[in-house]
Amino acid sequence: MSELVVNNVSMIFDTPDGGQVEALRDVSFSLKQGELLSVLGPSGCGKSTLLNIVAGFLAPTHGRVELASTEVHGPGAERGMVFQQGALFEWLTVAENIGFGPMMKGTPQAEIKRTVDHLLETVGLQDFGDKAIYELSGGMQQRVALARCLANDPDVILMDEPLGALDALTREKMQSLVLKLWKETGKTIVLITHSVEEALFLGERLFVMAPRPGRIKKEYQLPFADAGLHQNPREIKASPEFIATREEILTMIWEMEEEIMGRAEAVGG
Ligand SMILES: Nc1ncnc2c1ncn2[C@@H]1O[C@H](COP(=O)(O)OP(=O)(O)OP(=O)(O)O)[C@@H](O)[C@H]1O
Ligand SMILES: [Mg+2]
Repeated sequence: MSELVVNNVSMIFDTPDGGQVEALRDVSFSLKQGELLSVLGPSGCGKSTLLNIVAGFLAPTHGRVELASTEVHGPGAERGMVFQQGALFEWLTVAENIGFGPMMKGTPQAEIKRTVDHLLETVGLQDFGDKAIYELSGGMQQRVALARCLANDPDVILMDEPLGALDALTREKMQSLVLKLWKETGKTIVLITHSVEEALFLGERLFVMAPRPGRIKKEYQLPFADAGLHQNPREIKASPEFIATREEILTMIWEMEEEIMGRAEAVGG
């Protein structure tokens, strides 16, 4: 069981004008194997910074990240990343994109083919293995990105706005796919989103972050992700409990945004 532990992580960036930004202050939490965490918060509150630290792309100023009791010191195959868009290899086919990680590891061809075929089916692209990336719609490209990440068999999947560039209907279908993959694979997932509805629907746990300094302001434990595995998403999202939590979080985020605007005006004079 690979527990992910984020322990007192702080991140201070130096800015070009000689100042500093406290992107994160004392962020601590742990995720058990198989938990799905969604993270919401106003722009600039440190969501991507936190994810990049867990991914090992950034080293925190203070604190540490551990996966399965081993400290994270850089990127690793056990932590896979899915970006918003544009991270696929345009010069490779769909199947080659998905098989890229195993190929780099020196996995035998026959085994790569088995993995790729299985994952194409898992994400609903069984007839698209030979296609070029540019032939696919945005939603299909994100399916490839998910499959490529899964091909490396990571313990943790980190997603920064993975569905942010999709139209509403495609996005909703992809949310159901994320839930299905989560249940089928038992992966730990951290998902950053700007959509309150998406964070509520997908997150077993949900953090609302606040900016300056970036920190966890409120944590929720939610029933909707489990329900979404066997119930109509539209029904769940229209339920009184869902709507009440959505409004509570929207109000919280609006208040934070107004405070930021107020401060910016005060500084600007
Ligand atoms: N490399 C960097 N150098 C300087 N400042 C940075 C750097 N990366 C991030 N920041 C600052 O740190 C803060 C947090 O940024 P981050 O990108 O983590 O926010 P975010 O919550 O992901 O925002 P968004 O919702 O807009 O994606 C911001 O004030 C940002 O300007
Ligand atoms: Mg971001």
